[in-house]
Amino acid sequence: MAEIEMIINQKIERYGRERKALLPILQGIVAAKNYISQDDMVCVARALDISAADVYGTASFYSFLENKVLGKYVIRVCRSITCDMKGKNKILKALEEELRIQLGETTHDRLFSLEATNCIGLCDMGPAMLINEKPYTHLTAERIPEIIFEYRNK
Ligand code: FES
Repeated sequence: MAEIEMIINQKIERYGRERKALLPILQGIVAAKNYISQDDMVCVARALDISAADVYGTASFYSFLENKVLGKYVIRVCRSITCDMKGKNKILKALEEELRIQLGETTHDRLFSLEATNCIGLCDMGPAMLINEKPYTHLTAERIPEIIFEYRNK
């Protein structure tokens, strides 16, 4: 819990004790431990003086709530309408082939998890995805092997 409080305080220092700090805080927690627990949500709600339901709504919108062990790198492919129309299915298929897992699964070496998320605000640059906190835009199926290669060799 001390780690979570430290993350919250760092983000509040940077963004203020305001609602706009919510997403950076949630991203910080996900970066540290890959998912957000109920206790974490209560802690965030208290720190920002907003309701736990509000925190839950935002965390669930971004699919940050998976209470399961995820890989070191969590790939979140945007499944919302614009990315869908711009070919997100081809991106997903390329990722599934490259990683040899299905959406919602983690590779045996626990290096990658493949998840879907709602809109991450990069619609004009879709199809888009996040790997942990790093955004990837204008994706094509051809770019996927090279992106995954980079992470395999980190
Ligand atoms: S619809 Fe994919 S980033 Fe907005």
